Amino acid sequence: MVTKILIIFSLCLLGVLSQNSYVASNIQWSNNGLTATVNYPGNPAQPVVANLLLNVTFETPQRIRFKLTDSTTARWEVPDIVIPPSAPVTIKQAQYTVKVNSSPFGLTITRNSNGQVIFNLDPTQVFQYNNQDIILLNNLNYATNFYGIGERVTNFPILPGVYTIFSRDAAGPYDDGQPPGSNMYSNQPFYLALDSEGNSHGGFFLNSNAMDVFITSTSIKFRTVGGVIDFFVFVGPDPEDVITQYHQLVGNPVLIPYWGLGWNHCRWGYNNLTALQWAYNGYISNNIPIDIMWTDIDYMIGYQDFTLDPTRYPYDEFQDFIDTLHEAGRRFVPITDAAIAQTNYFAYNTGLTQNVYIGSANHPGALVGQVWPGNAVYIDWFHPNATGYWHSMMSQLRQVMEFDGFWCDMNEPSNFCNGECGYPEHYNNLPYTPGQTDLNTKTIDLAGTHYGGLIEYNVHSLYGMHMAINSASFFTDVLNTRPFVITRSSFAGLGRSASKWLGDNFSQFNWMAYSIPGVFNFNMFGIPLIGADICGFNDDTTPELCSRWFQLGTLYPFARQHNTKEAISQEPWMMGPTLLETATWAIRVRYSLINYYYYLMFSVSLNGGVVFKPAFFEYPGDANLQDVHSSDNFMVGSALIVHPVLTQGATNVTAYFPSDLWYNWYNGLPISLPYNRTIVLNAPLRGLVNIHMRGGYIIPRADDHPTAMTIQELRYSTITLVVALDAEGVASGGLALDDGLSVNTISSGNYTLMTYMYKQVSSKQGILSFTSSNHKYTKAAGEYPGVSNVVIYGCQSQISAVTVNGVSVMDNQQFDGTGNVCSAEIVGVHPDDITQLN
Ligand code: GLC
Repeated sequence: MVTKILIIFSLCLLGVLSQNSYVASNIQWSNNGLTATVNYPGNPAQPVVANLLLNVTFETPQRIRFKLTDSTTARWEVPDIVIPPSAPVTIKQAQYTVKVNSSPFGLTITRNSNGQVIFNLDPTQVFQYNNQDIILLNNLNYATNFYGIGERVTNFPILPGVYTIFSRDAAGPYDDGQPPGSNMYSNQPFYLALDSEGNSHGGFFLNSNAMDVFITSTSIKFRTVGGVIDFFVFVGPDPEDVITQYHQLVGNPVLIPYWGLGWNHCRWGYNNLTALQWAYNGYISNNIPIDIMWTDIDYMIGYQDFTLDPTRYPYDEFQDFIDTLHEAGRRFVPITDAAIAQTNYFAYNTGLTQNVYIGSANHPGALVGQVWPGNAVYIDWFHPNATGYWHSMMSQLRQVMEFDGFWCDMNEPSNFCNGECGYPEHYNNLPYTPGQTDLNTKTIDLAGTHYGGLIEYNVHSLYGMHMAINSASFFTDVLNTRPFVITRSSFAGLGRSASKWLGDNFSQFNWMAYSIPGVFNFNMFGIPLIGADICGFNDDTTPELCSRWFQLGTLYPFARQHNTKEAISQEPWMMGPTLLETATWAIRVRYSLINYYYYLMFSVSLNGGVVFKPAFFEYPGDANLQDVHSSDNFMVGSALIVHPVLTQGATNVTAYFPSDLWYNWYNGLPISLPYNRTIVLNAPLRGLVNIHMRGGYIIPRADDHPTAMTIQELRYSTITLVVALDAEGVASGGLALDDGLSVNTISSGNYTLMTYMYKQVSSKQGILSFTSSNHKYTKAAGEYPGVSNVVIYGCQSQISAVTVNGVSVMDNQQFDGTGNVCSAEIVGVHPDDITQLN
């Protein structure tokens, strides 16, 4: 009997949840969209928000926004820092159609080009708008892969399941027994959806409250504990269209300094300057290139932010060390943690005087948590004094340690107790709890108070973004130089100002493999300078894993080795000759491509888009790339495909190549493919990662990459134009030249964009032309001295002449008839000259 009653009761609950009881009326259309009232009829009990206002805006021809707000009471909305406000515009030829269903309320958005429904707030399915429990379902009704929805360590595409979004100091699976896909540092409520024919669309839920995202093979559902429904839909139809449409909304990625593409070295546990110098000297004495040296919290006094321990890192000697780095064109980046130690020192005291801490009922002046230094307090980034306070602290640190970039850590924000240490927690008994865990776990109490009456409950996940943006503005506004700010926590829109790394991974092969979806996702989220800790952070690595990780990781846009305090040494020279050779070669491969990487980074800052991407972005219709091979390979730009080794003990990789001509990047040998386009490639441990270049592209390879010790030197290196011909004998590529440092490069137009075009006009003659779309940058003396060689992959006969304006510039030529690679040395040609190849 008792059981029966319980069953009936839970069915009732289910009934309430699966019903959409709202009714839309008063639908008013305008040129820019529509408005309507959406009401819950009758006299609904709390917590239902009964009177909603629907606002649909046609924002661009490819982007539509719908918003459902409480028409009687203001609710929390994400601040403008995420998406800068823009003036309404009248859209001509919108590529979507919207329809509203009145009773029950429903809304569909259809892509006009093929009539496909890309958002379906299905009137027959659940829709709920309760005060702390909002449910929004996009019921697509056709097979779809979903990507994005960060941050987590998981598959690509995301497997059907429930995924939480709420910033958390958690390394992901295997950390405290968490399942794969559990929530981590960042909040990125954006998804890319792909159907089996390669049609893509996207969705972005602008909401900062904790939420669960339910993914099935045909739908995606959001369940959040607050805020409003503010949703953007992007029509695509190609994956990369969706991404650029999304970046147009949240802002194109910040243009990073050129030096930021160099090789980074870091570890936790260099307890004193001697240890840090040892690491640096190890690079130099082993002839391994190094660009950026980092210090972890080891440099601080008692882990207090903005202090420098004079005993372990003596001021003068440390500054000498940094000077040495700078003189060689290298850079230095220190860590800073999110919380300020609650001790009697300048940073804490100044913050108290300036009122910049998050408060609580127990401690109105400063809520107390615990991190590395013990008791600690947290910045209220909403306080008008916060930016000034942060900049002044950074200035003080920079007086004793002339840093070039900044590493923002523990900014979920992390707390070693749950809530406010020693006090009762709040918001731990919600009607619905995403992740089904206490949201105060490892963070500060959600009742924490902020300036302007805001509460931590709503703004929690914005902490990391605020910290990173305020650190970035120190570089742009105070130092007048480009920001190189790497943060652990992020929110949508972060990429306009700062960059990220993937946090505390583990030294395991599967974690290395998971880094590829991680890097894909953050490229989609608009944060292209992203990478994982190479060789692994937690636990001990092995020479094999570390070598494989160098082969893969030096091709992440952000390439840094990092290690935890307890783990064995993993510097490239510390694990035997295989690692030493493999690591050195891997860094040099990156250096050979540095012009290409910078061009890609520059292009996404200019136009949005991704740098490191899944191959299906380039081949959306190729079903082989959507599931099985979606992340066992990756593409860098449109020109390179990489098949890294991701399993222990393997000495070859099974590589699938999409439909095009492909050449070995290192020697130009063409790949000959069987019918299924799958071949086994040799992949010796002591060797180079498999990179293949796609026919149709040109890459300006830096000539000095075998010897240069910094990428700064490569600005002064001649280049070899590597031309890979497609089936029509055509290829193109580019190069971005600028000073690599200025903040306003893009807005002022102070850059040069070179385009290289090659066209085979007969079996004997090809024309290579250099054009410039924006020829504004004046090169410094010796910079970018020009083209030394042209190498053609897939050529039919030897090059007989290279002329510029009728004058021969060819010095020497070679033709490898077996491999169809020909090359010519060029004398006296600059990238901006026009060259003709005979
Ligand atoms: C955090 C960071 C890690 C760093 C450590 C010590 O775990 O994620 O990179 O080394 O703190 O500062």
